[in-house]
This record gives sequence, C-alpha cells and structure tokens, in this order.
Amino acid sequence: MPAIRHRRKHSGFRADRDALCFLSKCVNIRAYTVCLKDEKKTMTITSPVQIENEPQSNESRRLAAEFISKGHKTYTPTQLVIQHAQGVYLWNPEERRFIDFTSGVLVANLGHDHPYFEERYRRYVKGLPRTAYNTLTELEVRAARRLIENLDNEKMQCVLWADSGATGVIKAIQAAQRHQPDKHIILATRSGFHSTKGLAGNVTGEQSRNPNVRWLSFPMVMDKGQASNLEWSPAVLIPKVVAELDALKREYPDQICMLITEPYLGARGAFHPPKSYLRQLNDWCNENGVTFILDEVQSCHGRTGSMYAFQTYGLDPDLVVLGKGLGNGEPVTAVAGRADILDALDYGEAHDSYSGNPRACAAILAVLDTFEKCPILENCRQMSAIIEEGLYRLTADFEFATYVRGEGLVWGLEVDSYGGKTAGEIANECVLECYRHGLHLMAPLAGNVLRIAPPLVITESEAKAGLQLMYQAFEQIAKMGKTQE
Ligand SMILES: Cc1ncc(COP(=O)(O)O)c(C=O)c1O
Repeated sequence: MPAIRHRRKHSGFRADRDALCFLSKCVNIRAYTVCLKDEKKTMTITSPVQIENEPQSNESRRLAAEFISKGHKTYTPTQLVIQHAQGVYLWNPEERRFIDFTSGVLVANLGHDHPYFEERYRRYVKGLPRTAYNTLTELEVRAARRLIENLDNEKMQCVLWADSGATGVIKAIQAAQRHQPDKHIILATRSGFHSTKGLAGNVTGEQSRNPNVRWLSFPMVMDKGQASNLEWSPAVLIPKVVAELDALKREYPDQICMLITEPYLGARGAFHPPKSYLRQLNDWCNENGVTFILDEVQSCHGRTGSMYAFQTYGLDPDLVVLGKGLGNGEPVTAVAGRADILDALDYGEAHDSYSGNPRACAAILAVLDTFEKCPILENCRQMSAIIEEGLYRLTADFEFATYVRGEGLVWGLEVDSYGGKTAGEIANECVLECYRHGLHLMAPLAGNVLRIAPPLVITESEAKAGLQLMYQAFEQIAKMGKTQE
C-alpha cells in the first residue's frame, strides 16, 4: 500500500500562525502549534482550532486539517464538529448541544431532520435511479411544474437546473448573453456576492476581471432604524439611481445586456436596501430591454418572510436564481424565468452531470410540500420580531454591539472595537463565546458582522433561549474588555 503523503507543506503558514496567536489568547482555546512531521522535517500545519474537553472533535479537526484542503471552508474560530442534528439543535461528538443560528449557511430553512420533509423526500426518491442524465423522470417534470406554479409570476415560465448557486448564476448570465448576443455590457450592483467562481465571480465585489462588467451603487443603510431617514426616501434615492443608470446608458447605447443584483447584500455585512431601490432597477431594465436577474440563492424559500424575496420587495425579475433553501440541504439550484431568455441556450449548452437529478427534484418537491403543510412563513414573520427585539437589546446594553440590520430570519449585528481589541477580534470572540455558551454562529460577515439566521421553524422559546445565550456571551466579553482596560 502506498504511504499516505502528507500534504500541506507550509503554504498559508503566516495566516495560520496569526490565527493561532489570536486563538491562544481566547479563553479555553488551546492553540495547536505548528509541528514538524516526517523525517524530511517538512512543515505540516495541524488544525488551528483545538478546544478544551473536546477530544473527539479535536481529532476530527486535526484530521480535517491533514486531509481536506482548507480552501474548502471559510475560516471560523470554532470549527464545530457536528455529530447529529434535529430541528434547530446540533450536537457535537461530546454530546454538547448547540442552538443553530446559521441554518448551515442559510440552507436548512426547514431545520435539520424535519420529519415531514424527510418522509416526503424518501417517498419521492424510492426506486428512482441515482442519476437521470440524458433521460427524464416524471419527478423532474413535476418538480419543474410545481416550482413554476409556486413562483406564481407571469415571467416565471420555465426552469434551468443547476447544482450550486455559482452555476445557477453562471447559467443565468449565459442565457441572458445568448438572448441578446449583440449587447455585451453586464451591470452588477457593487459589493454583492454571487460566488467566487467564473462568471459569477466576475460580478461579485467591486472589481472585475471581466472587461464587460460595470458597477452600480447599492444603498447601504447602516441600521434598520435608519431606513426611514430622508436620505433613503424614494424622493432622494431614486433620482440618484436613475442618474447613474442613465449615465451608463449614454455611455453604452444599445450595449447593456443585463443587470444582476441580489435582494440584500449578505456576505458584505447584511445590508438591506429600501424597496424603492430594487423596484427602480427592475423598472429601468423593463423600460430599456435589459434582462433583470435577481440572485435569490440565499433569500428564497421564506428567508425574508415571503416565499421569495422578489415578493417581499415587489419585483418581477426576468430571471431569478434560487438555491440553498430550495433543497433544504440537497445540493440543488435553479434559474427560473422567461422562456424566451432561457430557451436562447440550445441543447446541451447549460448541461452538467448532476443538475436536475432525482434526488434534487425530490428535495424541491418535499420542500414545497412542507411549506404547504406547515406554517413556515407565518412562523418566520413572528420569530423575526423576536430576533429583532433581542438584537436591539444587545445594542442597548453592550457598547461594542452597534448596528442591527435584517428582515425575516436573516439578520446582521455589527460589532465594533472594544477593550483594546479591533472590531474583527471582538466579532470572532463573540462567535467563540457564543459557542462556549451553546450557540452556533458562523464566521462573521465582512469581518465584524454577526449573522443570525436560524432555521425558519425555530420556536419562540428556542429563539429566546438563543438570544439569551448571546446575551450571556456578550456579558462575558464585556467583562473581559473591562479587565483589560
Ligand atoms: C446570494 C448568493 N449567490 C450565490 C451564492 C453561491 O452559492 P453556492 O455557494 O451554492 O455556489 C451564494 C452563497 O452564499 C449567495 O449567498
């Protein structure tokens, strides 16, 4: 048997060492040092996160560092190892329970191991092949039809399957290009996130390798409470938006092919725009024959309190990209929209091995069944108010908790520097301290914004318990900050 070669020589060493230094300062976190391995004394980095009294979790973290490329994960100071999950709860191998305030990364909208979803899913897939490439199943046709009916908008006419948000966005862009091949300019709203990959990466952030991409401003309201300020009123905002769009139209007459945006900036730090802004983009695209693509990979299937964010924001996009909650964890996405645009792609031009496979279609149907059977949207709206109140309580009581932004069950809490630590360090400490209290948060958005996005099935007592754990964790951080002053 060939010997296992230890990869991970010493690339990224500095970054890991910095992380180790930071983590070693954190309570109860014993940083693993960089160790020398094998007779050639090559540098091997073991897992940077090791947490006291978690021997089994620590072993998984160590093995992950050895066998899984770190590029696969975003960096998180906790690296929770999940042994099993139910509803909004996650358990680690040491049988510690955590309330999940992440839904994965806003994927498991129905929570974990939802009994009705799982039962429907199993029933749909029973007896079906693992793949249906180049063939059809009745399930696929049913899933497409149910999804279109559920989208319930006259522009939502057919679907194009994909297997990740990135490929969904790429396929939407490709279809829009093929639909109007004489127009080459792609407008994208600045600071968005559509993936790091390919064409989707080209319209992410604020700089692009693609010479055809032009950026538009996206309003960044710092706090939900400021949303009604004059500067965000349609009377002030809309003329600015129109001026920007019209300037681009003058610069590129008859050359603007599409505009891609998302309902809110998630990865950039949870910025939710005034509704009038997105409506204006949509209207301008309608008036100018520009394909309007709304990336709902993250916001679909109830996140904002409506089934789709285009309903929350009163929009009628030409194409909408759906992901994450669409399959409740099954890797499936879809582009839905105008048939004349999607059908501009010919046979095979948007194909891949996995898209639209039976398991993906079963998940789509089982998710829709569950939304029909259970009051998920109503619950989301009710829990939204509880989360909002709890987050504002944190800003009232802790000086490092500064701004609250969000809607439905997708919230951001911005934190600031405190007790000699930077905002980024405080945000990481919040994630760690919440972990120690039994609350799972993902790595901070944009460095210093905590993401609060529990499954939409969270109950009132679970939401309040999670917020209480956050409060206790923040008390601890406040105390630590005081002792360092
Ligand atoms: C709005 C949005 N678009 C696209 C993507 C990319 O999706 P995926 O990670 O499934 O490729 C994400 C992922 O977080 C997202 O939030």
